[in-house]
Amino acid sequence: MTQADAQNASLGIAFAGGGLVAELHQRALELLPQARLLGLYDPQPEIRKHRTREWGCREYRSFDDLLGDPEVEAVMVLAPFAVHEELALAALSAQKHVLVEKPTASLDGIRRLQECAANHGVMCMPGHNYAYEPAFRQVLSLVRSQSLGKIRAGWITYILRHPEEVAARYAGVLEEVMVHHTYLALALFGSPDQVYAGRMTPDWVALPQEDQAWMTWEYANGCSVHLFCSLAVDDNTNDPWMFVVKALGTQGSATYNWRSAIIMRPLGTLPLGIPAYEDSFVHQAAAFVAATSGEAQAIVSSLDSAYEVARLLALAEEAAATGRGVAA
Ligand SMILES: NC(=O)c1ccc[n+]([C@@H]2O[C@H](COP(=O)([O-])OP(=O)(O)OC[C@H]3O[C@@H](n4cnc5c(N)ncnc54)[C@H](O)[C@@H]3O)[C@@H](O)[C@H]2O)c1
Repeated sequence: MTQADAQNASLGIAFAGGGLVAELHQRALELLPQARLLGLYDPQPEIRKHRTREWGCREYRSFDDLLGDPEVEAVMVLAPFAVHEELALAALSAQKHVLVEKPTASLDGIRRLQECAANHGVMCMPGHNYAYEPAFRQVLSLVRSQSLGKIRAGWITYILRHPEEVAARYAGVLEEVMVHHTYLALALFGSPDQVYAGRMTPDWVALPQEDQAWMTWEYANGCSVHLFCSLAVDDNTNDPWMFVVKALGTQGSATYNWRSAIIMRPLGTLPLGIPAYEDSFVHQAAAFVAATSGEAQAIVSSLDSAYEVARLLALAEEAAATGRGVAA
């Protein structure tokens, strides 16, 4: 196969949104021979121009222009949450496959995306990138095969200080960042029976939203799962919990973390490079391409999971507001 043939055989992808997370998706597509970044649309002309020059791709002056490009087979929706549903519905209706960054959409919005994708014969997948990390897949397979026996306890922590100007792009930690904790815990441990949650008074200078939050999930079978996120501090100890997943069972335990390699340069939203995190976008993009050619089993965390994530996070917000556990 010539280089031109290989290019034509790869999935043509366009970005809606050229902000921080787009840097990670662009890196992923550059590393993936089976996909190519064709171009991007962003309503901010300076971002659009800067990114298209930087990445050598097409500049679309409107989202309709992007959708009108016949070479675009798939769209990655990398814009803020408020416009996820609108952009994804338009792309699906134009018969493009879609990956939507987290948080996917509202509960009803997720159902509309599923219906629209089914009606137009295309695929829609949430951007649940942490679920595609090989280390997570290994823990998941140990849990699902019951190699660890009965799971009695789980932990997921994410502790990484963020500059206030980065945090300003998002809603609170619970609803926007803990989406990751929620889809991972859901895949590993299933839906809980009771949800407890709290959000902490922030130390931001100007932002009102919390900079730390937690959830505890209780299961009628005796399992308890502990989820914590802080954008306020770093864990600089010799046993850092920067990002840790643990599943503890009666016959064994499994864990992994993100500290096996760190690169001292920023990428996307993070002030340092974490290869495990960055490569999760590559694995996710590979699964996306596979799913567009009919391999639905490549999707680890589906729109049904996104729906359950949105439902559980709404319960967590209620628990945090009332200070009481909420039945799930
Ligand atoms: N998966 C992850 O690890 C991860 C990390 C960071 C952010 N995110 C998610 O990605 C999304 C974007 O976050 P970000 O950090 O890139 O934010 P950002 O503010 O850096 O970038 C968003 C971009 O979208 C553009 N935009 C706004 N409206 C648009 C529209 N209608 N069409 C196209 N583009 C539009 C903005 O102009 C901006 O350039 C959020 O939903 C966020 O939660 C995911």
